[in-house]
Amino acid sequence: MYLTEEQLSIYKNQGFLLLPEYFSRTEIELMKLELSGLFGENSPTKVFEKDGKTVRSFHGTHTKSEVFNRLTRHPFIVEPAMQIVGSKVYIYQFKINIKAPFSGDIWQWHQDYIYWRKEDGMPKPQVVNAMCLLDDMNEFNGPLFVIPGSHKEEMIDTTVPHLQMATTNSNSSSDSTWLASFNANMKYSINQKMVADLVTKYGITAINAAAGSVLFFDSNIVHASPNNISPFGRTTVIVTYNSIENIPLPVSNPRPEFLVSQDYRPVTPLGADALELCCPVEF
Ligand code: SIN
Ligand code: MN
Repeated sequence: MYLTEEQLSIYKNQGFLLLPEYFSRTEIELMKLELSGLFGENSPTKVFEKDGKTVRSFHGTHTKSEVFNRLTRHPFIVEPAMQIVGSKVYIYQFKINIKAPFSGDIWQWHQDYIYWRKEDGMPKPQVVNAMCLLDDMNEFNGPLFVIPGSHKEEMIDTTVPHLQMATTNSNSSSDSTWLASFNANMKYSINQKMVADLVTKYGITAINAAAGSVLFFDSNIVHASPNNISPFGRTTVIVTYNSIENIPLPVSNPRPEFLVSQDYRPVTPLGADALELCCPVEF
């Protein structure tokens, strides 16, 4: 389902585009059912919160689940992704963020592209995230905060000393394992002074949307989310599509395939019934 010129221009200007209730309730239920089967698995692709028992994220699930594989090829998200990056796309990253009731932890302020550039050798930010909401996201359950327009600052290099001022988060630079990109102590988080300046310049917004909505967002938009102390789940699936013209350059210490796919085959969109065809029950 292609975006209109107006939608594309909103995406370009604010760095994100929310499409409310894009997927049906039944499609969402199908994905949630599939997800429920993943919790029991013992796999390095499953990341825990600091408590060591609450699941924070699953990675690379699209390579082993037919339902999530079909989601990545759903025209509702692939076609806009191709329009946004201006070429065919391949799946760069796939993750499911759980943000569990009462215990889902924060995501610090950050941009995505700096990870992909510094850790993975991605040449340019010709890439887009499609965040699919499997639950309602609201003021209670740790919604995504974004600074609209902040992608126009391009990549803020948090490793440059003068950008890390008095308010620097002490957790941000020491951990060199790949987990430092995915636990609550993020490697390239943006310091408080910088966030305050960006918010003064651009404002701030929280995403408030029903399950089934999709948020496309720019890899350079500054975003974060607070913890979830509510009784409501806040599961999202984030599919990151990279341009086939933007294949990462070799790096000395590549991250695992389940985090950064080296399957550069362009995604061919399925029909709009991509998920329905997977469903054992009546739609
Ligand atoms: C992310 O930055 O990848 C996830 C943010 C969130 O789930 O709130
Ligand atoms: Mn992010």
